[in-house]
Amino acid sequence: MSKKAFVKSYGCQMNAYDAARMADVLAEQGFSATDDVAEADVVVLNTCHIREKAAEKVYSELGRLRVLKAARRAAGHDTRIVVAGCVAQAEGPEIFARAPTVDVVVGPQSYHRLPELLARSHETRARDTDFPVEDKFDHLPARRTAGISAFLTVQEGCDKFCAFCVVPYTRGAEVSRSVAAVVAEAGTLAAGGVREIGLVGQNVNAYHGLGPDGRPASLADLIRAVARVPGIARIRYTTSHPNDMGDDLIAAHAEVPALMPCLHLPVQSGSDRVLAAMNRRHTGDAYRRIIERVRSSRPDIALSSDFIVGFPGETDAEFDATMRLVADIGFEAAYSFKYSPRPGTPAAERTDAVPAAVMDARLQALQGLLDAQRHAYQRAAVGQVVAVLVEKAGRRPGQVAGKTPHLLAVQFDAPMSRIGQVVPVRIVEAGTNSLFGEAIGTAVAA
Ligand code: 5AD
Ligand code: SF4
Repeated sequence: MSKKAFVKSYGCQMNAYDAARMADVLAEQGFSATDDVAEADVVVLNTCHIREKAAEKVYSELGRLRVLKAARRAAGHDTRIVVAGCVAQAEGPEIFARAPTVDVVVGPQSYHRLPELLARSHETRARDTDFPVEDKFDHLPARRTAGISAFLTVQEGCDKFCAFCVVPYTRGAEVSRSVAAVVAEAGTLAAGGVREIGLVGQNVNAYHGLGPDGRPASLADLIRAVARVPGIARIRYTTSHPNDMGDDLIAAHAEVPALMPCLHLPVQSGSDRVLAAMNRRHTGDAYRRIIERVRSSRPDIALSSDFIVGFPGETDAEFDATMRLVADIGFEAAYSFKYSPRPGTPAAERTDAVPAAVMDARLQALQGLLDAQRHAYQRAAVGQVVAVLVEKAGRRPGQVAGKTPHLLAVQFDAPMSRIGQVVPVRIVEAGTNSLFGEAIGTAVAA
């Protein structure tokens, strides 16, 4: 019987990418992937440190794994428990102290060393949270994945140091991969059947990797290069910072057909004082102007954003400024969070915390407005004909599921042979999280 690996990822798309790559590393070692943790010889938790709740989830999961590991041991099976990702990076020694069941702790920059860490863990608990001199991308096996839509990390780390954020500490300084490396990986993915690539980075639009002419290339240059990879029909990118929204990236939205009409551009707050306290280095109006430029390039662009309510010192009037910004701009989708102090960040030193009840009320109000906008956007799709990239089987037998260019999920009746194709679909109904439609005509190329 082959050895099995269970890999679970929390948090952002970069973590999803890292989890897929760890699965590749383990596959090379003879581990096949399983969704059933009870039969896994290696369990990897790829953790997120962005908010306290996310980090605490790891410890409750580890409690369950301790029981499972003991049961498997009683049945004569060894289980290696690996904690990877940003909690591993930030709290390595503490994880060993709090969770005796953990065998390996490995950070986001060193998981290519997983095989040697697993081997070493039979003698002593093994930890590697270095920022190694070698580049993990040079040491990872070829991608084996995976489906129709795949993430591809092009840039890691962040030099922005927003006052609330742990990323500059857990993921380190900004580093971009070369255009050639990204194009080569995109080619491997396309050869394996991938049609859509999500270029990911903590600050993806700050991308400045080495271009073919020996000079730094921008994200727009990179998108144009990936668009030339045969088989790649759709390109997306996330997450962007407002201050790195260059003219060439905005122009690419009008000029590159494969670049999908979506922009995830976190604003965090609509109040200039709060934005300054967060060290975001832009104002609410500057953000509005960027959106105007983007919309004049691509009028139908679907905007999404991240928001934090209850940053220390945030007043009612300042929160109202966030509500106004949301009402003015109109977002198709959004993530909103209560502020959570993170160890080591400047904001965690502040003593003017917003009371929990006030934070709750603000989050509820903001999410109410954002939900209403999202539902209105979904309802507006009813009656339209949209190009759906079919990704997988649908919820019901006979159905397939896919996404529109604007990233709306659609279910419709079609044979599984449609997977990987772009199919024109008329939307007939909007559900809560999905649209329902009917295929019209035959598949088109993009
Ligand atoms: N508290 C709450 N939300 C946070 N985020 C980042 N750090 C914190 C924090 N300390 C949110 C931001 C960011 C998203 C990925 O997570 O909105 O854009
Ligand atoms: Fe964190 Fe700000 Fe960097 Fe985003 S831009 S990763 S919020 S420090």
